[in-house]
Amino acid sequence: MPLLEASRLRVDLRTHRGTATAVRDTNFTLDRGETLGLVGESGCGKSMTALALMGLAPGNGTVNGSIRLNGEELVGLRDSAWRALRGRRMAMIFQEPMTALNPVHRVGIQIAEPMRLHLGMDADAARRKTMGLMERVGIPEPAKRIDSFPHQFSGGQRQRIMIAMALAADPDVLIADEPTTALDVTVQKQVLRLIAELVAERGMALILISHDLGVIAQNVQRVLVMYAGHVIESGPTAEIFTRPAHPYSRGLLAARPSLAHRLVAHRSARLPTIPGSVPDLFHMPTGCAFAARCTFAQPACHTEAPPEIALSDRHRVRCGVAEAMKPSAFTRG
Ligand SMILES: Nc1ncnc2c1ncn2[C@@H]1O[C@H](COP(=O)(O)OP(=O)(O)OP(=O)(O)O)[C@@H](O)[C@H]1O
Ligand SMILES: [Mg+2]
Repeated sequence: MPLLEASRLRVDLRTHRGTATAVRDTNFTLDRGETLGLVGESGCGKSMTALALMGLAPGNGTVNGSIRLNGEELVGLRDSAWRALRGRRMAMIFQEPMTALNPVHRVGIQIAEPMRLHLGMDADAARRKTMGLMERVGIPEPAKRIDSFPHQFSGGQRQRIMIAMALAADPDVLIADEPTTALDVTVQKQVLRLIAELVAERGMALILISHDLGVIAQNVQRVLVMYAGHVIESGPTAEIFTRPAHPYSRGLLAARPSLAHRLVAHRSARLPTIPGSVPDLFHMPTGCAFAARCTFAQPACHTEAPPEIALSDRHRVRCGVAEAMKPSAFTRG
């Protein structure tokens, strides 16, 4: 039985404009110790997928389908049941630590909270474990820093504190949503290395979300490529990067951001080599969501939902033309 299994996961968001489906028909499994990446342009549903997995979908959202953790169904759980597992069995690191850290509480108290809440540790034991974790995530002199406030740390250190908080109750699954985009490039590398080390050391499963294909390529074994709420391609990282099959994945790879591009905010979302933009979730086209931007689109792509094709054991693509394209067309360039 996989550690985590999502099937037909769907998130609908009600707004004054109507209902938008931010995530649809998403399927994946994650085993203990496995690492999975979610990539795609801004707005494609990466964070919404993560929030649904954590039971944190927004108030106007409805989650459907199935999320199983160790076989236990999570969709439809009551808030109290979510609270009991969130931070304990699954924990999440957010892009901007200040949104997750409480500015008026000392960091030590915040890191220790999951230990008190989930592990029933007393204050002394939790404080000792907190110092150990702070040390492990690379905060020097934890005994001196444990009673400081979040604003007294640098951005990179705050991210490390959030990682310590996520690890406090030894979760089985760690979800990291753009954990390093707010950091400069050198610190990004250090924090990613830390996450990778901790995941390996503790045998956790990791879901890493990034718009940065370089980060994904270096840090995960398997990838889901998302487009307008759909997983349009999934497979082992090496296969996706050497033989991307979906025209969108190929475009993403061709448009890999330069270093200069990575230094600016990631919300400069449009990629130079894929003309057009993501469809409006309130006016989704019939047929393939990517068809309007796809140079390979056939008439049927605009009217029929694309078929899911297995290209190898674990490499799947949802595309009506991928199969017709010659293997040579799958290579990068
Ligand atoms: N509370 C909400 N109500 C309505 N729509 C929302 C809400 N939150 C997000 N959305 C929409 O849901 C879609 C998916 O958003 P999501 O945050 O998952 O994107 P993302 O892939 O994480 O993008 P980014 O790379 O910018 O973080 C977007 O179109 C977004 O505008
Ligand atoms: Mg996001």
